[in-house]
Amino acid sequence: MNEEQRLQAGLIKGKQADKDYSKYFEAVYTPPSLKEAKKRGKEEIEYHNDFQIEERFLGMGTNHKFHIRTFGCQMNEHDTEVIAGILTGLGYESTDNVKEANVILLNTCAIRENAENRVFGELGHLKPLKLENPDLLIGVCGCMSQEESVVNKILKTYDQVDMIFGTHNIHRIPNILHEAYMSKEMVIEVWSKEGDIIENLPKVRHGNIKAWVNIMYGCDKFCTYCIVPYTRGKERSRRPEDIIQEVRHLAANGYKEIMLLGQNVNAYGKDFDDIEYRLGDLMDDLRKIDIPRIRFTTSHPRDFDDHLIQVLAKGGNLLDHIHLPVQSGSSDILKIMARKYSREQFLELVSKIKKAIPTVTLTTDIIVGFPNETDEQFEETLSLYKEVGFEMAYTYIYSPREGTPAAKMIDNIPMEVKKERLQRLNELVNGMSAEAMKPYKGKTVKVLVEGESKRNPEVLAGYTEKNKLVNFRAPREMIGKIVNVKIIEAKTWSLDGEFIGVVEKEKVTL
Ligand code: SAH
Ligand code: SF4
Ligand code: F3S
Repeated sequence: MNEEQRLQAGLIKGKQADKDYSKYFEAVYTPPSLKEAKKRGKEEIEYHNDFQIEERFLGMGTNHKFHIRTFGCQMNEHDTEVIAGILTGLGYESTDNVKEANVILLNTCAIRENAENRVFGELGHLKPLKLENPDLLIGVCGCMSQEESVVNKILKTYDQVDMIFGTHNIHRIPNILHEAYMSKEMVIEVWSKEGDIIENLPKVRHGNIKAWVNIMYGCDKFCTYCIVPYTRGKERSRRPEDIIQEVRHLAANGYKEIMLLGQNVNAYGKDFDDIEYRLGDLMDDLRKIDIPRIRFTTSHPRDFDDHLIQVLAKGGNLLDHIHLPVQSGSSDILKIMARKYSREQFLELVSKIKKAIPTVTLTTDIIVGFPNETDEQFEETLSLYKEVGFEMAYTYIYSPREGTPAAKMIDNIPMEVKKERLQRLNELVNGMSAEAMKPYKGKTVKVLVEGESKRNPEVLAGYTEKNKLVNFRAPREMIGKIVNVKIIEAKTWSLDGEFIGVVEKEKVTL
């Protein structure tokens, strides 16, 4: 594209943009559409288990390096593992040093405005690298690339970007890169509709102790504040046999802990029309696999059924820690959030879970300052938090997301009030975490050792079954093992302990 065309397309800062950019591009140009992403069609989700890198692309990355920066949730991090897998398959080598990379990818998150701002900031930092090395390819992928407004902003303001591809287009990376090398124009490929299920994608996993396993993709809940159903498409579950095989394979390769992933894992299996098989059934099958620990995230209270509770109560490698986002303690706010449960229903679910699994630890997510939230309604969140006895929470100030129903509501809580509420909530969260830690003093816990502590390389760190961070001194050979640690000191967010010895029988007896 020449200067004249760029000007006409509004791609030069300060000029009026012509909305139809496509005519200026010969290369791939499939922009996102939130309107399309909102539709939930009846079309069958296509299932492919024959992913292969086309022969013509093999060796594309020889002598080249890639660097990926990940901004989002665990699913986003797991996507990074798949992207790294494909790039490695193309012959690229990974590097931690952004300056020596030939391909830089930002795997982005759209959940809140500040997550997006971090990405735009990072793009600004990358500009000098691009000026130094015009052959460098910079790509934006992940949830932000599914948003029209983001793609338009990048087109207008960030001409250092060479490619934008969506969450449903990861398997297309070889083609997208090829296009980017050939055309030298910004390549945009973002499919807005559903996305298929593609098995056999290569992965370069982060570490060899804990592994993420997707069990489903997408979300159909459409909570009014949330962008995820638009950026991740329709709920679609992986076939049980594929998941079981992946977990078996990981167990055989020595992994100690599996985190099953989905935006709403309790909806697992709802989309199968040939089998009656839900999350409870999957957990019941997975618990028989010879692997010490299995967790899942995130579960939506609405679909948390009795069968699942019964199966979790069997224990073994199914851990007694459940992350159960509540978002608010006020039934009225829950209603306008479209969470589809009331405070009372949530409390009822919690008491059912506690009855079946008396040792359970519950953690949650909470949003403060949702439109119209009164002081009394916020107090209800605090009282619910205490009543449940949550041991940890991720807490957020409400952030309007363009295209969601809540963004049309008046964001009428002043920022000062939102911040004050967040602070009060966080004080409660910290206090209750500290309380929950106290009884550990003097007890012996099982810790999966992950590596050196972040603060002191002479100290090792790992997590208990209930996901409490434990620091202790022990030989480095203990990394990757499950060990007994006697707790000496309980802090607000971590425990300090004394190494006792390796747990001989890591595997659980059923
Ligand atoms: N699927 C998960 C949530 C994924 S997003 C669930 O429903 O439990 C992680 C958390 O981000 C949410 O639980 C919510 O607390 C928060 N969040 C989502 N959208 C938000 C927004 N617009 N503003 C502030 N926080 C938000
Ligand atoms: Fe977002 Fe709600 Fe879906 Fe969670 S369940 S991803 S909060 S729409
Ligand atoms: Fe963010 Fe997308 Fe995850 S919006 S929280 S990266 S699903």
